[in-house]
Amino acid sequence: MILIKLGGSIITNKQKPLTPNISAINKIAIQLKKIREPIIIVHGGGSFGHYWSVRYNMHTKPAKYSKKGVAIVKNSMIELNKIILDSFLKNKLNPYCLPPTDFMFGDKADTKKVKEILRIAKDGLVPVSYGDVLWHGQNKFYILSGDKIMEILAKVLKPRLVIFVLNVDGVYSDMKTKKLLYEIKSQKTTISKVGMDVTGGMTRKIKEATMISKVGVNVFLVNGNKPERIVNAIKGKKFEGTVFRG
Ligand code: IPE
Repeated sequence: MILIKLGGSIITNKQKPLTPNISAINKIAIQLKKIREPIIIVHGGGSFGHYWSVRYNMHTKPAKYSKKGVAIVKNSMIELNKIILDSFLKNKLNPYCLPPTDFMFGDKADTKKVKEILRIAKDGLVPVSYGDVLWHGQNKFYILSGDKIMEILAKVLKPRLVIFVLNVDGVYSDMKTKKLLYEIKSQKTTISKVGMDVTGGMTRKIKEATMISKVGVNVFLVNGNKPERIVNAIKGKKFEGTVFRG
């Protein structure tokens, strides 16, 4: 099974609130259709969920956030999710919508439910989950990021490969020359060294990729503007991007 995260930066226009990047979504869907293995998709919030969670000052830390904010973030994620599902359906991917509430209890994953996701994928549908705001208990809520969902699914389901689809080529060794780091051996790389010249978003991504690669799977960072690179990564062809060796 291949576990793929479609980052908010590629499926939406992060500069413009509530703007999906329909053409990127469709082009990615066309490439995903070429994959001959079970796949599971997770997508981020981008200019939908992220936009509203910033507006309502909501974070991953459980707290008593605005109830209206919770409702609006949830609603916006449904909206973005629907756009992804429609594109997948149009491109004959047979998506199976899985809001994270389907496999989360508060902030804990229900392992039995998570295992069910793999069986759905093996039966030929494409499970699609997404980052969301969740109830935590005691009147508190928290943002469950798509990246965190990737970690949960990777740990339980041990995919053959994990792919993060972004709007950059991968990790650059430095931002001036934009020299791409093709391979990062997680055990040996210190995050601060690589993360120094990149944005906060990328630092977080590197941390997440490193963590998942430690489960023993290879993690690829790939540019979604060149979606054929996703298929190349899966087929083991030479490709442009960054690999974190598991
Ligand atoms: C964010 O998920 C979900 C919400 C803010 C509701 P992610 O953190 O995975 O989203 P992106 O990919 O960075 O946009």
